[in-house]
Amino acid sequence: MVLSLICPTKDPQPWMAAIQAIAPDVDLRVWPDDGDRADVTFTLVWAQPQGIFAQYPNLQVISSMGAGVDNLLQDTSIPEQVTVVRMVDPRLVSQMGDYVLAAALNHGRQFSRYGQQQRQRQWQPLAPLNLDQITVGVMGLGQIGQAVAQRLGQVGFSVVGWSRRAKAMAKVQVFAGPQQLADFLSASKILVCILPLTPETENILNVETLGQLPPGAYVINVARGHHLAEADLLALLDNHHLAGACLDVFRQEPLPQDHPFWSHPKITLTPHIASLTDPVSVAPQIVENYRRLTAGRPLLNPVDRRQGY
Ligand code: GLV
Repeated sequence: MVLSLICPTKDPQPWMAAIQAIAPDVDLRVWPDDGDRADVTFTLVWAQPQGIFAQYPNLQVISSMGAGVDNLLQDTSIPEQVTVVRMVDPRLVSQMGDYVLAAALNHGRQFSRYGQQQRQRQWQPLAPLNLDQITVGVMGLGQIGQAVAQRLGQVGFSVVGWSRRAKAMAKVQVFAGPQQLADFLSASKILVCILPLTPETENILNVETLGQLPPGAYVINVARGHHLAEADLLALLDNHHLAGACLDVFRQEPLPQDHPFWSHPKITLTPHIASLTDPVSVAPQIVENYRRLTAGRPLLNPVDRRQGY
């Protein structure tokens, strides 16, 4: 049994070291030099070349190196019987909470506007806002979304959430399904997108949905670039319907040099760092799944391939 790392855009070394440190017996290889691919039963994957899995006749498990599996599931070479698993990690969750909280507070305390005023040497207090007057709408109430919603509530924001199916959450009013999307949007002064990317959620942040946010709303996208219709966002920023946006993910990454987001005065952007998987933190769940596969036991954190997350 061989565990092969297929991650052309990531340095495999920290992952190898983290796994070897706790499981020296595991036969680890790195694509493309992973020897006889018929020996590989388990792959640890990020941004794999599409179609690659056809070269692994005895593959049983594909583990995403991150929480998201959208790119992975687009690969039509994953055989039906292969189990796909993903990372579920408290560190990923708390980093996401930190990022969203920082962005929401930054907007709530009007740092961007004070920044513009500073550049113009303008001493001009703006009307203060209490956090409980700001309703943050969290789109996507999976494991990460729920934790982020709770965290925002603990700090004092009013929080509402939206998910595909109805959910009960303490102190968070939950809206569900397409029928309640408009009510959710019209309540959200700050909109946070933490949805999985699926055919249903692609371009969900568009002129119609963002146009239903209250005037002066702020958008935070920490999910995937393909959730956002970029030209629609620009139009709504430029016609002053939206006050601004904080974006960590983009349709094309790295963001092209000539992209209008770079220099837009109402956009704050970061290079897909809101929440990064730490190999040391997730190595135990990778090894546990490898052991479970060997013992024929059910794996941790399986992905529902039909649902897409
Ligand atoms: C990062 O974007 C992830 O999916 O973990």
